[in-house]
Amino acid sequence: MKTALITGGAKGIGLAISQELMRDGWNVVITGRDEHAIDSAVAGLTTGPGKAVGKVMDVRDRASIDAVLAEVRDEFDSLDSLINCAGVIIRDESEVLSEADWETVIDTDLSGVFRCSQAAFADLEKAEGATIVNVGSIAGSVGIAGRAGYTAAKAGLEGLTRTLGLEWANRDIRVNAVAPGWTRTEMVAGGIKDGRLSEAALTARIPQKRLAEPHEIATVVKFLMSSDSSYITGQTITVDGGITINGNT
Ligand SMILES: NC(=O)c1ccc[n+]([C@@H]2O[C@H](COP(=O)([O-])OP(=O)(O)OC[C@H]3O[C@@H](n4cnc5c(N)ncnc54)[C@H](O)[C@@H]3O)[C@@H](O)[C@H]2O)c1
Repeated sequence: MKTALITGGAKGIGLAISQELMRDGWNVVITGRDEHAIDSAVAGLTTGPGKAVGKVMDVRDRASIDAVLAEVRDEFDSLDSLINCAGVIIRDESEVLSEADWETVIDTDLSGVFRCSQAAFADLEKAEGATIVNVGSIAGSVGIAGRAGYTAAKAGLEGLTRTLGLEWANRDIRVNAVAPGWTRTEMVAGGIKDGRLSEAALTARIPQKRLAEPHEIATVVKFLMSSDSSYITGQTITVDGGITINGNT
């Protein structure tokens, strides 16, 4: 039975990915910073033939990543897939964005992906047909005012995906990314709730006229983990209801 480790797996898109994988018979290692959120995520999963476990792990801290990977090695036969989904967003205009906020976003959303991928390499290399799927964003290919750190990190993630895909293609590890558009999770709901984002204004610009649901991102991640995508590596698939192809005025 195959095992996947999901960073930021307790909520939102990461939780939807964990749920999809459970249904498909994977063992799922849900990781994140908040033990309570992880425990309730594991308890809330629809069970499948695989095993679900939760582990506290901060993608900014290599020691915590190494400790979790050691536990995975003890508890499971192999690590077959790493899903880099953990992410934060800090909104501020560039002229006032603090260096600390810039660093937090880059360290989590970009360096965290490199750190986890590098740490997991030896385990993934031992597995047959291993995969890494990075959760990027449409912010990796378009500018978004007030999101300097986030857009830089997500653009960097696409470059990193290409290079890791290239470096590890002959080590039997495929590395791809999914770039979601606006998706109904806490990250977006928080902005709608406090008035920084307007759902009506967002959906007016999306050709499919609605936000994505987390499972619509998760199914594409699952495709990139499966043998159905066995000849795809280094690519980023955009899943955005058409917003980035909308050149209409
Ligand atoms: N919701 C959207 O519209 C949207 C769009 C494009 C991309 N994304 C990306 O999808 C991913 C998941 O976001 P989401 O929308 O589900 O948001 P979310 O806030 O629900 O989930 C983010 C998860 O990352 C975890 N996390 C944050 N910092 C961490 C750290 N240092 N170590 C470990 N875990 C950490 C959080 O605890 C949380 O579980 C993110 O990478 C985000 O950038 C989201």
